[in-house]
Amino acid sequence: MERTCAGLICFCLLPAATAIASSSVFSQSLISQQVFDGENFLKYDGVRGPYVDRVSYGVNREPPAQCSVDQVIMIKRHGERYPASGEGPSIEQALNKVNSTLVGSDNYTGDLAFLKNWTYFVPSDCYEAETWTGPYAGLTDAYNHGKEYRSRYGHLWDGNSIVPLFTSDFQRVIETAQRFGEGFFGNDTYSTKAALNIISESSSQGADSLTPTCRKQDDNAQKICDGLPYHLPQLDVAADRLNAQYHGLNVNWTDVYNLMLMTAYELNTRPTSDWIDVFTTDEWVSFAHIWNTNFYYCSGPGNEYMRAVGSLYVNATLSLLREGPSSGSLFFNFAHDSNITPIITALGIATPSETLTTDQIAFGTRWNIQDIVPMGGRLTIERLNCTDSALAPAGTFVRLVLNEAVVPLQGCQNGPGYSCPLDNYTSFVNGLPSFVAECEVPKSEPQYLGFWWNYTTSNEKNHVRGSRCHGLA
Ligand SMILES: *[C@@H]1O[C@H](CO)[C@@H](O)[C@H](O)[C@H]1NC(C)=O
Ligand SMILES: *[C@@H]1O[C@H](CO)[C@@H](O)[C@H](O)[C@H]1NC(C)=O
Ligand SMILES: *[C@@H]1O[C@H](CO)[C@@H](O)[C@H](O)[C@H]1NC(C)=O
Ligand SMILES: *[C@@H]1O[C@H](CO)[C@@H](O)[C@H](O)[C@H]1NC(C)=O
Ligand SMILES: *[C@@H]1O[C@H](CO)[C@@H](O)[C@H](O)[C@H]1NC(C)=O
Ligand SMILES: *[C@@H]1O[C@H](CO)[C@@H](O)[C@H](O)[C@H]1NC(C)=O
Ligand SMILES: *[C@@H]1O[C@H](CO)[C@@H](O)[C@H](O)[C@H]1NC(C)=O
Ligand SMILES: *[C@@H]1O[C@H](CO)[C@@H](O)[C@H](O)[C@H]1NC(C)=O
Ligand SMILES: *[C@@H]1O[C@H](CO)[C@@H](O)[C@H](O)[C@H]1NC(C)=O
Repeated sequence: MERTCAGLICFCLLPAATAIASSSVFSQSLISQQVFDGENFLKYDGVRGPYVDRVSYGVNREPPAQCSVDQVIMIKRHGERYPASGEGPSIEQALNKVNSTLVGSDNYTGDLAFLKNWTYFVPSDCYEAETWTGPYAGLTDAYNHGKEYRSRYGHLWDGNSIVPLFTSDFQRVIETAQRFGEGFFGNDTYSTKAALNIISESSSQGADSLTPTCRKQDDNAQKICDGLPYHLPQLDVAADRLNAQYHGLNVNWTDVYNLMLMTAYELNTRPTSDWIDVFTTDEWVSFAHIWNTNFYYCSGPGNEYMRAVGSLYVNATLSLLREGPSSGSLFFNFAHDSNITPIITALGIATPSETLTTDQIAFGTRWNIQDIVPMGGRLTIERLNCTDSALAPAGTFVRLVLNEAVVPLQGCQNGPGYSCPLDNYTSFVNGLPSFVAECEVPKSEPQYLGFWWNYTTSNEKNHVRGSRCHGLA
């Protein structure tokens, strides 16, 4: 593994394969005295750039010795992608401002000297699309994740039954599910043994959805969402630094924000970005905070309806967990970041004690979005079957694994490996608000999440392809 350092920012050039946390970190013969998590660029890119594991609390990722996993329910964000179409024009505007100044004076010196030989990386028809080039490509990430979960959870498949995969109906999400499936089953077996179930993203799905929407709106939270991105003075510092270097250049803080946004996305198609070092680590801290605040108010704990939205999934997964493997052992689901953050909110595993604000960085906050929904991020719920131990009598337990780190539930961690006994987990989930009631799902729409019990085993959709952007074979 190659570790690349530029300024304070270091990152490891791993292929898009995601690390399975090892249990040997406490017993290496020479224990590192340096901790790099705080200096990893991927922890500051506003979940626009490549996947990165969650910083763990030290709890072993493997099941405890006296337990085995007998059911897994995962929801995964699509893999690394190009910028959203709404972001394209402002990114291109900021880039053109810089570029035309440098071209005009033919002054390829200073912080942006690399522009002489740098090209923009988004083909005009590729906005929104999953990426497929470079070591961090979204499609590679999904494929490798599938392979990794086959080695981790392959014992839960008998090699013969049809396994449904559930994806929301959005091109890049569908492609993520397909590649994950190819990685999990192997390319040929995927065609016959997986059954891709595509769930409409329409709000008329009511509660029978991976992408539920709330009819009620938190006006205060919405106001902050609508005001994004907001001004932070560190971005002015970057603008001043650039303007001072090039005669006639007049970038402002929104241009800086858009160039930083572009930088994060560049890594989804290329091994590295010359732009990372154009901005200081302090500026990246501000950029990351803008995105923490975004998710906090738009689809997280700063929005009064998000616990209810997330409880739909949490409550439905409880039914699967209580039924156990007789209802199926593998439930792989695929959706968007803003569908996962409400679930994390309902579970309360990253809800900060402080309120996030737009004028102060919440250093050390539990609501660090990089640890919650990076590209390709996933929440994996494991049902554990455990024998007697000093911790608890034999029984069924639940563990939450977020981006490959075990995250114990606050208030229920008395099982093996800090898991939660299923009965206690049940009381916790039963205390959550109701999505249907709080979000006023009309009676004319589905009132519960039913597709896990009512799915197709047909493989007819396994290889569906939407319109694809330029260059994708
Ligand atoms: C400029 O880009 C070309 C094509 O990508 C590459 O071969 C060359 O090494 C680059 N030159 C410099 C100085 O970076
Ligand atoms: C900068 O402008 C020149 C001249 O218009 C163009 O050839 C080049 O592709 C531009 N570079 C970027 C990175 O936009
Ligand atoms: C299987 O599919 C993946 C992803 O589509 C592709 O990268 C790989 O080359 C394929 N492998 C084989 C053996 O066909
Ligand atoms: C060219 O760049 C250098 C260093 O960045 C700067 O000192 C100089 O003023 C610039 N010249 C013009 C014409 O912009
Ligand atoms: C920055 O400049 C662009 C035009 O180049 C403009 O659209 C944008 O509103 C400006 N941002 C601010 C905060 O003034
Ligand atoms: C746990 O596993 C044992 C051994 O496979 C099995 O006999 C038992 O029924 C399982 N318990 C539950 C609650 O599934
Ligand atoms: C778990 O549930 C049992 C009864 O089912 C109860 O006695 C105990 O207090 C609960 N523990 C926690 C941590 O909720
Ligand atoms: C939780 O799920 C069960 C079973 O699907 C359902 O009967 C119940 O109404 C749900 N509870 C809430 C609060 O949505
Ligand atoms: C099962 O799914 C089909 C097709 O999506 C739907 O028409 C039907 O209403 C569902 N049945 C139940 C009981 O939810």
